[in-house]
Amino acid sequence: TGSVTYDPGFVNTAATKSAITYIDGNEGILRYRGYPIEQLAQGSTFIETAYLLIYGELPTPSELDAFDQRIRRHTLLHEELKGFFGGFPRDAHPMPVLSSAVSALSTFYQDSLDPFDPEAVELSTVRLLAKMPVIAAYAHKKSIGQPMLYPDNSMGLVENFLRLSFGTPAEPYEPDPLIVKALDQLLILHADHEQNCSTSTVRLVGSANANMFASVSAGINALFGPLHGGANEAVLNMLRKIQADGISPEEFMEKVKNKEDGVKLMGFGHRVYKNYDPRARIVKATADEILEKLGGNDELLDIAKRLEEKALADDYFIERKLYPNVDFYTGLIYKAMGFPEKMFTVLFAIGRLPGWIAQWRELMEDPEKKIGRPRQIYTGQGERQYPGL
Ligand code: CMC
Repeated sequence: TGSVTYDPGFVNTAATKSAITYIDGNEGILRYRGYPIEQLAQGSTFIETAYLLIYGELPTPSELDAFDQRIRRHTLLHEELKGFFGGFPRDAHPMPVLSSAVSALSTFYQDSLDPFDPEAVELSTVRLLAKMPVIAAYAHKKSIGQPMLYPDNSMGLVENFLRLSFGTPAEPYEPDPLIVKALDQLLILHADHEQNCSTSTVRLVGSANANMFASVSAGINALFGPLHGGANEAVLNMLRKIQADGISPEEFMEKVKNKEDGVKLMGFGHRVYKNYDPRARIVKATADEILEKLGGNDELLDIAKRLEEKALADDYFIERKLYPNVDFYTGLIYKAMGFPEKMFTVLFAIGRLPGWIAQWRELMEDPEKKIGRPRQIYTGQGERQYPGL
């Protein structure tokens, strides 16, 4: 009853109030809990930023230490959950493996499912933060046929994840501090982005009082889409194809502008940013630094930079206010770190996890919380008669 507002893609509809992340898309501003992303990227750590997003304030040193230690104590996966990875085809994409395993956490950790029990919510929070990087690394190990290592809780989250991803029982693995720092910073940049597609999914599923594992699993599936988190993988595939086909960035841009076969410049454009994505600015600087030090594929970086340069000067992109987004340069960095393309979106998911958790918790505590239930404008048949009656 009453009138319904038609807003496909929720371009103008605020579905919630939130005190977590602020974006000004015209000015290219992003803040978590009031702190500018540039400052967090420079001074914070991923664990500290996760704490800030979830609890609203920066932790004191002892709060941070307690939080970190608690996460370290929860890294082990239930042994039977490890058997789960054997059920997928070897070439399975790690994103659906990740979402399935996160969904399966509801079956292994049934004591932390009540969305309204503060202790259970705390436990689920810590379990997810601790176990998701381990699940992600195991999905990778499975796909390359290597054994899964046990986590080493003397290491922090990022180091442990790198060791689980790249270490083998045959050789000790010492994560390169440069890679640890760069990955930590990239995770900070991805940690929240207000009501994006995956976060809105987490909220919509959570609005039915679904538990945190179920809600986050749904968010992971949304993030898998190439218009969302899947774009970082799609960018690298695009750069590779341009290289392999031997076409110039200019020729590729013509295809994009003519919308040939629906081809888009992946890693460009954003629903909210109508200016340079502030995260992309930081990522670009990191890409330069890390590719120089690690010796990444310079030719692909070169193609990316030429595409960006052309796009920023082209009327098609200027009129539509299309700028590089966070996904444009991240793939090149992940590649230089040694991750295969299929892992790129998984890295995004590890980064976004604190945001999903913070938003889910905010929803559960919201006195105005209601089940999400969009309306529609019906365009089908009027009533008709079933034949023979
Ligand atoms: N390349 C070429 N044209 C584009 C692009 C692009 N990357 N992005 C938007 N356009 C055009 C689009 O065709 C449309 O043109 P027209 O007015 O002639 O029909 C106009 O710009 C407006 O685009 P839209 O699709 O209506 O905008 P949207 O807000 O619905 O979509 C977007 C936002 C991010 C899905 C889109 O820009 C896109 O598909 N980009 C490529 C994928 C990508 O990089 N996604 C990552 C997003 S950022 C982080 C994340 O979520 O992972």
